[in-house]
Amino acid sequence: MVQIGTDVQKAKEFLMQGDLIGLPTETVYGLAANALNPDAVLKIFRVKNRPSFDPLIVHTDSVDKVQTFVTAIPELARRLAERFWPGPLTILLPKKPIIPDLVTSGLETVAIRIPNHPMALRLLSMLDFPLAAPSANPFGYISPTTARHVSEQLGNRIPYVLDGGSAQVGIESTIIGFAEGGPIVYRLGGMSLEKLEALVGKVSVRSHSTSNPKAPGMLSSHYAPRKPLLLKTPAQALVNYKPERIGVLAFEEITPLVPVEHQQILSLAGDISEAAKNLFAAMRALDAFDIDVIVTELLPETGLGRAINDRLRRAAFKG
Ligand code: TXA
Ligand code: MG
Repeated sequence: MVQIGTDVQKAKEFLMQGDLIGLPTETVYGLAANALNPDAVLKIFRVKNRPSFDPLIVHTDSVDKVQTFVTAIPELARRLAERFWPGPLTILLPKKPIIPDLVTSGLETVAIRIPNHPMALRLLSMLDFPLAAPSANPFGYISPTTARHVSEQLGNRIPYVLDGGSAQVGIESTIIGFAEGGPIVYRLGGMSLEKLEALVGKVSVRSHSTSNPKAPGMLSSHYAPRKPLLLKTPAQALVNYKPERIGVLAFEEITPLVPVEHQQILSLAGDISEAAKNLFAAMRALDAFDIDVIVTELLPETGLGRAINDRLRRAAFKG
């Protein structure tokens, strides 16, 4: 059975043996393995039920170490790294052969991130290898933002979850690359476009839903609860459902139309960053209620609102 604890040394020992651990980060919890050990990395795909064409992010704790995994760091990438690492930004860089093909699904680039979480950084500084870590959820389900979320879903498949508290950002990192010279965002996430563009100028966004992604975890079924989630108002849902069978995922306001115990408010103060932090736990809570449908409305398309809306659109029921 899985242990949950704060023993970084113990986490290190499991990783050195080629085992997986639950890793706290500021975005979401990761399912971590020694990125340089293909047998350990293979366990990630098995435990998550993840298709091998979906590459993994490699986590480390310093730009000096990054240089040992990549052949070059373009000027714009270096500026982003200096400004935003540690933080919720993943940068695609040309890989060296030391990074196993399994990690990158055979791509020439490797996704790299320095997470901004004290426990993760301490662990990474104690290791002489980087950590490959996707979000620690079964493939296609909502990402975990607490150690308990990880143990509830993967507890019988991994030996240890390092408990670093609730993830402070709450949604996955923004992924940026430089395929045709200019910066391209492949996944909207915890680092807002506004902040990126303030540093590097116009950034294009290619985070489309597609059933055959070039790579980005951009399968349209991603982040989905098991209950149908509809992009509707409670009033619209009442046409087809009784009030007590409806759950509401709302940005800032309680609705009088359905029982209050079936509502999750992301931020009573209307703060989009707070909403991001609460999003996945709220979706999980709604999924566990005795209801038939979840309704939600999109947030303003600014700051982390874009990334939240991207998650909501992907989670929405396409029946
Ligand atoms: O915040 C995060 O990024 C979390 C924490 C644990 O760091 N990790 C995470 O990993 O969200 P995952 O595996 O759930 O999502 C990683 C995404 C995938 O969609 C994958 O397709 C994309 O990164 N990716 C990885 N390597 C890539 C590459 N070389 N080119 C394009 N996309 C890549
Ligand atoms: Mg994921």
